[in-house]
Amino acid sequence: MHSVSAADSGKRISLHGTWSSRMAFILAVTGSAVGLGNIWKFPYVAGENGGGAFVLVYLACVFLIGMPVMMSEILIGRRGRRNPVATMALLGEEEGHSRQWLWVGGMGVVAGILILSYYSVIAGWTLAYVVKSVGGAFSGADAETVGNIFGSFVGDWRLLAVCHTLFMALTVFVVARGVERGLEQAVRVMVPALLILLLVLLGYSVTSGSFRSGVEFMFTPDFSKLTWDSVLAAMGQAFFTLSIGMGAIMAYGAYLPEETSITGASAAVVTADTSIAILAGLVIFPLVFANGLNPADGPGLVFQTLPLALGQMPGGAFFSTLFFVLLSFAAWTSAIGLMEPAVAWLVERYQRSRAQAAMIVGTLIWALGFGTVLSFNLLADLTFYKGTLFDNVDHLTSNIMLPLGGVFIAVFAGWIMCRNSTADELGNTGTAYKVWHFLARYVAPIGILFVFLKAVGLLDWVAAAFG
Ligand code: PHE
Repeated sequence: MHSVSAADSGKRISLHGTWSSRMAFILAVTGSAVGLGNIWKFPYVAGENGGGAFVLVYLACVFLIGMPVMMSEILIGRRGRRNPVATMALLGEEEGHSRQWLWVGGMGVVAGILILSYYSVIAGWTLAYVVKSVGGAFSGADAETVGNIFGSFVGDWRLLAVCHTLFMALTVFVVARGVERGLEQAVRVMVPALLILLLVLLGYSVTSGSFRSGVEFMFTPDFSKLTWDSVLAAMGQAFFTLSIGMGAIMAYGAYLPEETSITGASAAVVTADTSIAILAGLVIFPLVFANGLNPADGPGLVFQTLPLALGQMPGGAFFSTLFFVLLSFAAWTSAIGLMEPAVAWLVERYQRSRAQAAMIVGTLIWALGFGTVLSFNLLADLTFYKGTLFDNVDHLTSNIMLPLGGVFIAVFAGWIMCRNSTADELGNTGTAYKVWHFLARYVAPIGILFVFLKAVGLLDWVAAAFG
């Protein structure tokens, strides 16, 4: 990312050897994609929305909308080679349209700030759970004990504030120093380690959990449980988990060598991200059913099921510590992506140093985070529209801002950019290009807008009015 030298961009990349640069990019994007979204959010949102049918819609959104939007974002980023705001302005003009496309970048900057404000709070929970695991808090604990530990933890706003502060400090530190390169090494170890640990846990849930009920819950679609609101949640989850729709991937794409295949890199990231989410679900739901928990229990789901399982396994304290350490790392590499558009914008637009920009953005995010900290205790009863403050920030960002950003990104790449530009970036590969172009032009924008209109009931209202 910013530590990548100018020589890495443009045609001069051949000096550096292609494989490691391509790998570095895939690692950075995978690090951004794999995070709390896969392991914390996916299971609880799937649980709240009835399981099977939700998972099916989520998968359809990942491949039909998420993948083409990701490709669009990378190709826009690589062509513009600036922060998302400047890139959209530059390309808007270059493609003979308008500089006003910069607002798409602007919305992404805001979305990243809002998402990180709650993401950091939940990441703080994982830090606290590392400490609890080391202390053996879950060894031999039953469902009730683990539930109580979680309840009294989130009930203490001061503790949540401390953890949130610590996580933001870690994030600002890395972003300020621009040492993302070091984190790439971490991703190289972390993602495979996370995968292996999830497989170990899968072994446990196959033998000790209600594996059948879990699998049935996840893969037997019951469409009667699917409302348009759940379809919107599934689409929002696809955007959130892939880190798309807010410019994070665009910012990373700006540092991508010319000859790297965007299609290949996207396919690798989407596959890794989706596998980890599905695996997390396969571990968690059997445990939910075996322990008489409720899959619709909300944001605490992972923090109640996994410590329970890990506490009963031989070597549980060790595995539990390892798991929450890995999850904290995964959250960390995602948090950096969430800050990148805002920081890159401040640096380029106002000639701030990277350290200054990271401090300014970090402080703002930290302050906003108190909305989420308090949503689980003092302000838990302050509910409106979708629930607590946290629920509303989450809904606004994942389900509205990211998909809306996705519409603009897909329309820009599919309609505003001329075929020469996009074919040049994607390497005109015949069928693959045509499939992408069709998905970006029609399927993604129309699909997203349709789900929006359905979810707010506008289409039915229109049909009724004219029907
Ligand atoms: N994809 C990350 C996750 O699943 C969250 C994220 C969203 C990161 C948007 C960057 C940008 O945890």
